[in-house]
Order: sequence, then structure tokens, then C-alpha cells
Amino acid sequence: MTVEKKLRSKRLDLIPPYLFAKLDAKKAEALARGVDVINMGIGDPDKATMRPVIDAMREAIEDSSTHDYPPYTGTLDYRKACCKWVSERFGVKEFDPVSECLSTVGSKESIHNIFLAFVDAGDYTLIPDPGYPVYNTGTIFAGGIPYKMPLLAENNFLPDLEAIPLEIREKAKLMFLNYPNNPTSAIAPVEFFQEAVDFCKKYNILLCHDMAYSEIYFDDYTSPSIFNAKGAEDVAIEFHSFSKSYNMTGWRLGWVLGNKDAIQALAQVKTNVDSGVFKAIQRAGQRGLQIPQSEIEKRNNEVYEPRLKAIIAGLESLGWSINPPKATMFVWAPIPRSYSSASEFCERVLDECGIVVSPGNAFGNYGEGFFRIAMTTDVPRIQEAFERLRKAGIKF
Ligand SMILES: Cc1ncc(COP(=O)(O)O)c(C=O)c1O
Repeated sequence: MTVEKKLRSKRLDLIPPYLFAKLDAKKAEALARGVDVINMGIGDPDKATMRPVIDAMREAIEDSSTHDYPPYTGTLDYRKACCKWVSERFGVKEFDPVSECLSTVGSKESIHNIFLAFVDAGDYTLIPDPGYPVYNTGTIFAGGIPYKMPLLAENNFLPDLEAIPLEIREKAKLMFLNYPNNPTSAIAPVEFFQEAVDFCKKYNILLCHDMAYSEIYFDDYTSPSIFNAKGAEDVAIEFHSFSKSYNMTGWRLGWVLGNKDAIQALAQVKTNVDSGVFKAIQRAGQRGLQIPQSEIEKRNNEVYEPRLKAIIAGLESLGWSINPPKATMFVWAPIPRSYSSASEFCERVLDECGIVVSPGNAFGNYGEGFFRIAMTTDVPRIQEAFERLRKAGIKF
């Protein structure tokens, strides 16, 4: 029996096509043909989870008290550890683990669910373009209307809040920001966060800050938390994730903290949708939060920084001029002028060179004209990728 198309919800027709689909199919074909594909597409760390976390997991899983249903909101110990970590890392107040913090099944789940907690049919959301696609799909699943805030190079990839029409500001329920940013790798100064907090207070908007990339950074850069802006806890919540910070994308662990009313509304959705995170994973995560910052920096210096340098040098050798990013695992670069679209450029790079990079328009219309390189492969492979591009005559 086949499930008739007409049975599918109309909601699904509203979800935009998955722009990586064609590239994914081409990648699969290339692999099937035996091409030695160099993958710098998806932002998934290629290194193992940090050792203390693995060791803590081994112990925790042997303890049968971790095997039952976990508390929906996270164990108290886990939430305490998260609140303490944020307070110490960013020099902000210690949030109350009971009422102001929740465990999440990786941040994607809660980023989706926050829209269900705050957005009704016809409400606007303010989301960055280009941006992590879940801000857009989360709005649509909730019946809302996304208002795309363009992230433009000339504005250092920060949204221009003044450009948002008054009517939209008044109808908006929720704004998403994400710094360090995916896909542009831009960073935001605390002054911009203050502007966003003041804006959201004035127009009564919930401010959601996604900090998935806070722990991948270069030199002595530290990204501010939204809570470094005055009064942020009145209007904001912040999503944190173990995925990129500790090479834990497969474990599905994160947390969200901040404004109590927002956290309670999200908890109400989540208790009806998921049943929390395996307690052993929460315990392992707690161990991760004790890893000294110097170890994280060692990883950044030893793994990501040489890759970043190799990518910047490779781009420069082919005519690009790129300011190295201060954070994230991405380099965001313009496509050469001779291509009409980012997809066309990325398809050629894959077809002719066996290299996967992401077209900017997969992250929104304002990503058109750019492509994203993920630092997910070692330096010799990166050098080989640029050698392949050079041989194929692909340059800026
Ligand atoms: C900006 C951003 N936020 C959130 C996520 C979700 O990460 P996770 O669900 O693994 O915590 C990602 C994943 O790529 C991301 O790029």
C-alpha cells in the first residue's frame, strides 16, 4: 500500500525545498564512482569526543540509576553545572537551575520548539538571512511568518534593526540571533547585543540567542553572551550545545537558559514532545563542562587554527582576499564573478574537483553569491583541495 500524497499535511508543502539535496545526490554519485571526495560541506567535527566525556560516559552507563526516564527538564545536577559554567565563562549572573534552565536534546530540538511555545498563526518572527534553517522552518511549523533580517557584508553580517518596518516590529513575537554566526562566521560586539535587547524590550519581543559555536575561536577572542547586555534576562534566552564545543554532535546534548517565563513556556512544549536526555549523557556532559578552557583552546589551536590558515592561504593563492574569522569552524567567501549562482559554483567544484562546499543560498536568499567552507578535514587534504581547484582553473 502507498500513502497517498493528499494525506500529507499542507504544512509540509510550506517547508522550503532542501537546497543541499542536489549537492548530496551529486556527492553520493561521485562516491559511487569511486571519486576521492574531500568533504568541507557540513559543520560536523571530524575528531572524537573529548576523552574525559567518553570516560565519564563509560562509568555513568554502568550505573543502573541512569537507566530510567530522566526528568523532562534535565537532572538538577546537570542544570546546576550548566548555569555555573555560563556564569563563570561569560561573567554573568548564575541563573536558577530549577526555573531558568532546561536540558535540550541538542539545541536543534529546542530551537524548533521555542517557536511552538511563542508563535501563533500569523505572528511574525525576526530571523537572520542567511541563517541556520531551523529558524525559518520552526516559524513555518508554528504557522508564523518569518521576516528575514538580511546579514550583509557591508554591515559586518549584523542585522540592521532600524530597517525593520514598524508594522513588523509590532507584530513580531520572537527574534533569533546567532553569534559567532553560521554560516557567515561573523561575530557580534556586546554593543550590538545591547541594541537588540533594548529593541526587543521596546517592542515586547522574545530574544533568542543561539551560541552553538561559542567554543570554537581563535587568538584571544571570546564571544560575549547575550547576558553581557544589561537587562537581557528580562527578554532573552540563550541556547548552548555540546555538539561543536566538545565534538559531540551525535550525543544530542545542550541546554537553554535565561528568562524564566520563556523557559517555563518552552518546558511546557517539551514535556509534551520529548522525554528528556539519557541521564548518563547528562552526567558525561557535566564532566565536559569541567574541562579547563585551556584544553578547549589547545583543540582550537592544534586542530582548527592550522586548517583555517591553510584555507585562507589556499583562497589567497587563487585570488581571494578574506579576513580570517575570529570564531566558528567556517570560512564564508564570495563566489567568483563568472558564476551566476552559488549552486552553480558548488556543483562545478564537486563535479570537477570532488570537493564538497556549501552554497550560501542554502541558508537563505541573502546567502546567494557566497559559499561556505567547513574546517572539517586535515591540512594536507585542504591543501590537496586547493591544488585540485588550481588545476581545474577555478579561481576568484
Ligand atoms: C547555528 C546552529 N545552531 C544550532 C545547531 C544545532 O546543533 P545541535 O542540535 O547539534 O546542538 C547548529 C548545527 O549545525 C547550528 O549551526
